Amino acid sequence: MASPVERLADLAAKYRRLQASYQRSLFYAREVRHLYTRLERASLLGLEGLADALDSRDRYTRGHSGRVGAWARQTALALGWSVDHADLVGQAGRLHDIGKIGVPEVLLRKTEALSADEWQARRGHPEIGARIVAPFDFFAEGAEIIRHHHERWDGSGYPDGLTGSRIPVGARIVAVADVFDALTSDRSYRVALPVEAAVKELQREAGRTLDPRLVDVFVADRPSV
Ligand SMILES: [Fe+2]
Ligand SMILES: [Fe+2]
Repeated sequence: MASPVERLADLAAKYRRLQASYQRSLFYAREVRHLYTRLERASLLGLEGLADALDSRDRYTRGHSGRVGAWARQTALALGWSVDHADLVGQAGRLHDIGKIGVPEVLLRKTEALSADEWQARRGHPEIGARIVAPFDFFAEGAEIIRHHHERWDGSGYPDGLTGSRIPVGARIVAVADVFDALTSDRSYRVALPVEAAVKELQREAGRTLDPRLVDVFVADRPSV
């Protein structure tokens, strides 16, 4: 029979082995976490490539998603958000129009007035976009931003007609950047406005279609076009 000293030594040896296994499991957990993060980034990068491809189908929207993403991120940082949270808003901005892949191209390019059904189809893109990113559970807030980027402060937007602070704040940020980019880009129906005129237009929409506080932050941090 083992003496108390031998039993203690045996126990100490078992404890050291357990400790070593625990350290190894921590190492593997970190490795798995690291791989998971890389996989998350790769998934988003793939979708960003798709968003850019969609933009470049049309000379009027080339670079649109990249600019909206960069300005949305900048606005989130100006609000004092963490870099991680600002990155998420920026990624949602990059992907906000990805649902246009489900809208017939002819409707996106059409310059004549759209019929009610055509409008309906075109207005489906925020919901389609949210569904495209829905499988990525780490991007659930991004999916919400995409779904609501065409809501308006006064409730006249879509898909849910949300008003004011009921609209997710990230979606309100993306909306300001989206409108500013539309104003400062050539469109099939008008030429781009100069920055000063676009800023005035944003300020006119503050409290009507856009969150007034976010328009102030965006304008104070005025992007160069
Ligand atoms: Fe959109
Ligand atoms: Fe857009």
